[in-house]
Amino acid sequence: MTSKKLDYAQPSLEGIIRIPGDKSVSHRSIMFGAIAEGTTTVEGFLQSDDCLSTIDCFQKLGVEISIEGDKVKIISKGITHWKEPDEILYTGNSGTTTRLMLGILAGSSVSSVLIGDESIQKRPMRRVTDPLKQMNAKLIGRETGQFTPIAVEGTKLQAIHYTMPVASAQVKSAILLAALNANGETVVEEIETSRDHTEKMLEHFGANIAVDNKTIRLLGGQKLNGTAVVVPGDISSAAFFLVAGAIVPSSKLTLTNVGLNPTRTGIMDVLQAMGASFTVNDAANSSHEEMGTIEIESSPLVGTEIGGELIPRLIDEIPIIALLATQANGKTVIKNAEELKVKETNRIDAVVNELKKLGANITATDDGMIIEGPTTLHGGDLLTYGDHRIGMMAAVASLITTEPVTIDNAGCIAVSYPTFFEDISSVIK
Ligand code: S3P
Repeated sequence: MTSKKLDYAQPSLEGIIRIPGDKSVSHRSIMFGAIAEGTTTVEGFLQSDDCLSTIDCFQKLGVEISIEGDKVKIISKGITHWKEPDEILYTGNSGTTTRLMLGILAGSSVSSVLIGDESIQKRPMRRVTDPLKQMNAKLIGRETGQFTPIAVEGTKLQAIHYTMPVASAQVKSAILLAALNANGETVVEEIETSRDHTEKMLEHFGANIAVDNKTIRLLGGQKLNGTAVVVPGDISSAAFFLVAGAIVPSSKLTLTNVGLNPTRTGIMDVLQAMGASFTVNDAANSSHEEMGTIEIESSPLVGTEIGGELIPRLIDEIPIIALLATQANGKTVIKNAEELKVKETNRIDAVVNELKKLGANITATDDGMIIEGPTTLHGGDLLTYGDHRIGMMAAVASLITTEPVTIDNAGCIAVSYPTFFEDISSVIK
């Protein structure tokens, strides 16, 4: 664990950043490439710790995967040809790897054991293992399948009609991936629309999937064929620079390659509501996902209310939105966001504790937080809780603090954005 002193002395920011690959899409590109028959090529892959955990799991399952920079090649004979791993599959810090792998492995023909790091070992898995068991999956884990390590004995699954109790793309995706290898038609009903990368990628790999508002139908037994995937940049990574551009005085940033899938663009709605000054230019799509360029400059901001259907569209951006709100005039209320308590760390507590240390006027609530702005932030020693997004929030805060900020663990940022500090340095004027 390496601490890092961030002493940027109140710079302004100017320049262009090409946003690195989307974490959710990168994971799925490997998973789908491994399930499919044939060769899959991936361009723009995010080489972060989390996505490398996914690659490592599939290599242990005998899938041939080679990486060259941001290009990945996957050669697979399909899910029925995987080898039974003779080692435990280690999913690191990645909730997406852990939960989606459970869905995939449940309907495979191999037996395996999954384990993650300290944070993963505390994150709830019954949201996935319960519906999978209803599909006939054979899973054993601590506290009746709530926590890893979890052992999976691949078996023939049954389709399910499942109404999701939480808005979660990880749960939805685990069920859909299991449904591919189940008898009959699976129906998943969401309470709010969560990111739809799995549905989009199923289609891209040749599956028939029907999406009608919040209801998704997928017939089991469909074969996927290897294909070419272009990964857009991660709007959740862009978010840190969108906020930096909006709050660091006299700044102007251009962010290229940004994924603009509408199930992910909640932060743009918030920036708009707060009066931020930005433009979005959609690029001609070279990917199965929307992408484009965003230009943003600093401007006066006002508080806003964030809740309801917006929450799943910006769930990972809430830490950095909280920092944004400390610089807006008036009150910002974030509600219906109790899911933050079961992320890499409890992000309600982490955000509130750490921003308070810098002098923010912020209060935790049962399902979110309330922030009164604007406040001048001073320096301090902040904790990341080993959570990449808390680390990056602290680093962006340090761009406007009157004194330096020290973070206890800079290494955790590599989970989603290994080149984050290089990208900051490249736009400091
Ligand atoms: C993800 C879904 C979200 C998000 C996570 C990635 C995905 O989690 O927070 O970073 O790739 O499906 P939930 O589905 O648990 O909300």
